[in-house]
Amino acid sequence: MATLNYQELIPNNVDLGGNRQLQRALEHWQPRFISWWKELGPERYQGADVYLRTATSVDIKGWATYGYVKMPEYRWGIFLAEQEPDRRIGFGDFYGQPVWQQVPADFRSVLRRLIVTQGDTEPASVEQQRLLGLTAPSLYDLRNLFQVNVEEGRHLWAMVYLLHAHFGRDGREEAEELLARHSGDADKPRILGTFNEPISDWLSFFMFTYFTDRDGKYQLKSLAESAFDPLARSCRFMLTEEAYHMHVGENGIGRIVRRTLEVMKEIGSEDPDAVRRAGAIDLATIQRYVNFWFSSSLDLFGSEQSSNAATSFANGIKGRPDEATFDDHLAIDKVWEIDAPDGAGGIRLDAVPLRNAMNEVTRRAFIADCETGFVRWNRLIEKAGYQARLSLPSGRFRRAIGVWANQPVAPDGAIIPREAWEARKAGWLPSEADGAFIRSLMRQVVEPGKVAGWIAPPGRGVDHLPADYEYVKFH
Ligand SMILES: [Fe+2]
Ligand SMILES: [Fe+2]
Repeated sequence: MATLNYQELIPNNVDLGGNRQLQRALEHWQPRFISWWKELGPERYQGADVYLRTATSVDIKGWATYGYVKMPEYRWGIFLAEQEPDRRIGFGDFYGQPVWQQVPADFRSVLRRLIVTQGDTEPASVEQQRLLGLTAPSLYDLRNLFQVNVEEGRHLWAMVYLLHAHFGRDGREEAEELLARHSGDADKPRILGTFNEPISDWLSFFMFTYFTDRDGKYQLKSLAESAFDPLARSCRFMLTEEAYHMHVGENGIGRIVRRTLEVMKEIGSEDPDAVRRAGAIDLATIQRYVNFWFSSSLDLFGSEQSSNAATSFANGIKGRPDEATFDDHLAIDKVWEIDAPDGAGGIRLDAVPLRNAMNEVTRRAFIADCETGFVRWNRLIEKAGYQARLSLPSGRFRRAIGVWANQPVAPDGAIIPREAWEARKAGWLPSEADGAFIRSLMRQVVEPGKVAGWIAPPGRGVDHLPADYEYVKFH
């Protein structure tokens, strides 16, 4: 069971061969997926040999094999984490009952919507990133981008399998729609707004993998607790892949910071303009990108108070991340304090029934997890002998969803007069000029071992290979 079957047309560990009808339906979907990949996957590199990791087992240890693959020939498949014997529902009104192997009729539409919404983000990110290869700062980075892209493609497979296997004709139609909607398409956009903006530079790509993929991690963690066991098992395996995406982000931002510090030393100045003239990205600009991407990612968790979230928790559909670490899994007569603007320029605390605050509970866990990279990056800055620090803005800053939506809040969380916000926002968020400067740095470097001037070389390579290895071979 732990070893994955690559003999079949669709690699899997779900005994697909034992269900002919399902197998045929997915084999019908497969060529459509490949045409989508060729059309909207990474531009120009469909014929290149890329040194990629493929899953060989769903165990945490030793689950990967590496080798050169042309991306359209990547072995996308259906991999679920091992089934836990006698797994029980871990939270909500059905706490302690056996988990479901089939979808209960009452929860069919809510589960379908959750799976479709999660599934939609996976190909969306591939579409958003499709031009990035043309400006990759090194072969190492190019390869990492493609690794992330093929794994997002596999995450789409994970959700499409659930739709096909458990939702009948509706599920098959939804699977078609997942390939019919496209990021930024005027008529058929992706479901979530953030996934319709192209990722046009590598600073944004690293921010996306650091913050937005981490949002994905927390959504998957909540779904990994689900009473619907096939969904929980799919998400558990996706989490092992997702961890790498966030590593790409953390490492990428760290290398940018490292290079900026080197340049600051070289020129003997911290002045942002001087740093830019020397071809690096000043820390203030990195901070503005943090402010932008962090706040966008926070909105993906939804409103602080949500009756849908309460119902999903009650019904065992979606739990809290790491539900086992809480001591009360019913969450019935607890409250959670949520801060909100009081309408008079101040902040009030609302006590909300805990089940209604589940979006906020998940968002808080995400915020705490976002801190890890800042500790490392700031250590680099401190070691280099500079006073500046990078930091997460307040969770109230620049929100578009929830009680803080469109409130004039400074990055430190204080409510300020609206005119002051308008006057100061250019210092807090990336401007047109920042975007133009970042884009001006984006020049492709693909000579093995060479790295663009705005980012430090990687500390080490992939799969114990040297950093200057030829990770992508062009033809
Ligand atoms: Fe994903
Ligand atoms: Fe991801």
